[in-house]
Amino acid sequence: MGAAFATQIRHSNRWGLYQISSFFRTFAPPFNSDYFDRTIIILPMQEDLFKRLVSHCKEYGFIYPSSEVYDGLNGVYDYGPMGVELKNNIKEYWWRSMVQMHENITGIDSAIFMHPLIWKASGHVDAFNDPLVDNKDSKKRYRADVLVEGEIDKMIAKADKEVDKAAKRFGETFDEKLYRETNPRVLEYTQKAEATEKRLANALKNNDMADLKALIEELEIADPDTGSRNWTEVRQFNLMFSTQMSNIGGDDGKLYLRPETAQGIFVNFSNVQKTTRQKIPFGIAQIGKAFRNEIVARQFIFRMREFEQMEMQFFVRPGTEMEWYNTWKARRMAWHRAVTPAEKLRFKDHDNLAHYANAAVDVQFEFPFGFKELEGIHSRTDFDLGSHSQLSGKKMQYFDPELNEHYTPYVVETSVGCDRMVLSVLSNALVEETVPDAQGEDSSRTVLRVHPALAPVKCAVLPLLKNKDELVEKAREVYDKLKFHFICQYDEKDAVGRRYRRQDAIGTPYCVTIDFETLENNTVTIRERDSMEQVRVPITEVAKIVGDKTDMRKLLEMLA
Ligand code: GAP
Repeated sequence: MGAAFATQIRHSNRWGLYQISSFFRTFAPPFNSDYFDRTIIILPMQEDLFKRLVSHCKEYGFIYPSSEVYDGLNGVYDYGPMGVELKNNIKEYWWRSMVQMHENITGIDSAIFMHPLIWKASGHVDAFNDPLVDNKDSKKRYRADVLVEGEIDKMIAKADKEVDKAAKRFGETFDEKLYRETNPRVLEYTQKAEATEKRLANALKNNDMADLKALIEELEIADPDTGSRNWTEVRQFNLMFSTQMSNIGGDDGKLYLRPETAQGIFVNFSNVQKTTRQKIPFGIAQIGKAFRNEIVARQFIFRMREFEQMEMQFFVRPGTEMEWYNTWKARRMAWHRAVTPAEKLRFKDHDNLAHYANAAVDVQFEFPFGFKELEGIHSRTDFDLGSHSQLSGKKMQYFDPELNEHYTPYVVETSVGCDRMVLSVLSNALVEETVPDAQGEDSSRTVLRVHPALAPVKCAVLPLLKNKDELVEKAREVYDKLKFHFICQYDEKDAVGRRYRRQDAIGTPYCVTIDFETLENNTVTIRERDSMEQVRVPITEVAKIVGDKTDMRKLLEMLA
């Protein structure tokens, strides 16, 4: 959301960019998951985790910069062959968990273009803004609030550094809590950080751009690129992209590319309620593109100008919204924990609420650049339905037969970014580890330990040798049977060990190898990605074994 629009509290990155790409990563099991039920020490990565991730995504066909032949388009990305499969699997996981598993939730697919008054009613035309500041010397453009947040992070980093030094000096007797509460230098840094954070929040809440500028000056913030402190005034910048309808001139024909999918749900509330005859409480789900003209789009696919959202609006009786808010908080956290280790996820309440909300929380994930928002859960009151009723003149109410009265339903919203989900899954899954090679010597491999149900390719079919016609023919036969069950790859190029590594790198959970024994007794080996264990099974059982292990049903059952 825009800073002023949502008055969403900025969750500063307390750890600084890249800091958690620790040298030793432990792959710990997430909540309630037998799939991850083992702990493996991951050896040091040579390069920074995040940079590795970005280059891995390109090298293996997950994500490419958009329009790369023209040097790219900032904040816009394309999904490659592996990326689109992963993203589709994430969407399927979300859709089935919402629509298939809840008899009172149905889906829609509303258009991206909507009547311009929708964005007036929702508040986006007037207040979907971020504060912008230009540096007069470098001509670079920044988000003023992000510059201030950067300073707050520095203050906290200074306090943390003092604490680290003291911890080393005092050893086991060190009492960190007491030190933080009493050491004058630590106190100075943390108090300054808190005061600045409060002032920033107030400036955003009150739309006080002059105070934001004053903060930048008082903190002596310099252009991160050039060091210049020659700033323009801070002004609000609306984040909606617009275009013009061909047959209507002027403002009446000005269309916006939707900045959230939710409004398509709100304005279809009555349509869906009537056609599905749902009784309250009920939900409407939607997956679709959203567009935001972010001032600074960065951190790869974390903050994009074109992205996808998976949103669900749950319509409830007024007065019951907090109960449902808590229910959806728990359900959404369980959904995340089924594919992500619990310690990488946390809730973060919003300190300042958007004008439409009476409660709001983020599900944060520990990205390679710190804990950041992955999903937002909001209790949106009756603001949106009420505003649309008022501006359109069409009542958006519900007749409750139990209460025998009409009312405007309250709404609990869950909204997760599909691309952020892709980034969280990838950054959690990509590891480099040392494993024994065929001779028992240590060798390193890059493996994407993505949940099998989300893996882009479920199974690779590999003839042991490509110059033996019988092996190739048999492998083709196996592939042609398996392709009806799930996405498979046939690969005969290079030594089989290299082919295993290629499949490890894209997260393929199973590799089926056709060897000379296959020709004798119609059995193959199945190699499991994580343990690298191989078992020999009859060809006739492969589809069932791989199908069972990679079936999304398993994930969904964990949510029941
Ligand atoms: N309808 C509510 C809404 O749009 P939001 O917190 O602004 O709330 C919801 O966005 C989710 O959309 C976020 O939690 C995030 O995952 C995703 N999202 C928002 N802006 C994004 C961007 N510029 N790039 C990628 N994902 C974004």
